[in-house]
Amino acid sequence: MNAAWIITKKRDGQELAGQEIRDLINGYVAGDVPDYQMAAWAMAVFLKGMSTAEIAALTHAMLESGEVLAHTPGAPRVDKHSSGGIGDKASLPLAPALACCGVRVPMISGRGLGATGGTLDKLEAIPGYRTDLSIEEMQRVADEVGCVISSASEKLVPADRKLYALRDVTATVPCIPLITASIMSKKLAEGLDALVLDVKHGSGAFMKTLDDARALARSLVDTGKRMGVATSALLTDMNQPLGRLAGNALEVDESVACLQGGGPADLREVTLELGAEALVLAGAATDTADGLKQMTKAIDSGAALEKFAEMVRAQGGDLDAPRPLAGATEIASATAGVVAAIDTEQLGWAVIEMGGGRKQLGDPIDHGVGLEMLVRLGDPVDAEQPLAKLYSRDAARAAAEKMVLSAIQIGDGPVAAPPLIAERVC
Ligand code: URA
Repeated sequence: MNAAWIITKKRDGQELAGQEIRDLINGYVAGDVPDYQMAAWAMAVFLKGMSTAEIAALTHAMLESGEVLAHTPGAPRVDKHSSGGIGDKASLPLAPALACCGVRVPMISGRGLGATGGTLDKLEAIPGYRTDLSIEEMQRVADEVGCVISSASEKLVPADRKLYALRDVTATVPCIPLITASIMSKKLAEGLDALVLDVKHGSGAFMKTLDDARALARSLVDTGKRMGVATSALLTDMNQPLGRLAGNALEVDESVACLQGGGPADLREVTLELGAEALVLAGAATDTADGLKQMTKAIDSGAALEKFAEMVRAQGGDLDAPRPLAGATEIASATAGVVAAIDTEQLGWAVIEMGGGRKQLGDPIDHGVGLEMLVRLGDPVDAEQPLAKLYSRDAARAAAEKMVLSAIQIGDGPVAAPPLIAERVC
């Protein structure tokens, strides 16, 4: 195999053969193809795209780069995966709530990607929480607790583990073929019966328009169905952060608030709707209304919070241990008006600037930094009114404040926020 030739072919817009894709992925996982060649190839795919056959071959090659979780007998195995957004912490309340509704959730999650935060980075804000479970540990926690959230590893989808981290720092994330293969290789390795995808669109999503989100959802759903997993997607809004808080420890706090029956309305709605969709797909709810009823009961009874604490304990963490935050400062509006638009991606880059995400492979994460939105799209604001609160260290504060201030656009007219859930793709 000659990696340079495979890169050349893709750079020139040609279709790669399945064997070429398999050779490249196997070579990368084995360490024979270096990061710089893989990064060049990912950029060529980003620029030239892939056919459906290439996407299928890439997904299979990544799935087959490691072992898969066995589909053990018992309750249906379900999961949800988000295409990524700012403040998107829905996996944290969703997994334990689903586990309270008679299904098992063996979730393989990711770290921060591009401007978006990652579920694993958020969970690691909980002292002691281990995201590096072995396959056997994942199976045991999924079977005994009902839900587990851990990472890909050298044995479990190692191709995505490596390529995901590389794409994060090489500007090759917003690409339908690479996202499809990344998400679906992880999800297909979980031995699932049903999968619901949360495909985000808007200023803080990889898919900026609803049309692009539809195309990504189609690609994901078709791949899942072809592999025998009941799959559907909800297209959800990311023109402003989900909830009020973005940043690792802050998002754990907001997830706990959601599991206590409180927290922001949009986080609760997305959690309930995605959960209901997963329950229906898995045959654990008769219809969406029944699914919503089961999910609401799981959260409002406190059972889902207790399940979350149980999962955290099973993974070595202590939900009651303090999760310290950096010092807080507020940024205020220069003018009066209405919140007309939010550059949500820029808010994500601001969190990374503060140290809440990575700029380079292997950068350490500061779990105590982040931001709290004090306004939402369409809100009226006065001059000098605080728009956001930043939790930051001294070195990055000024740059992050500037980024957040310029991301929140104040205009004149009334502004209607887009619907939180735009469509269902099945
Ligand atoms: N989530 C993933 O797991 N992979 C992507 O490429 C994007 C979102």
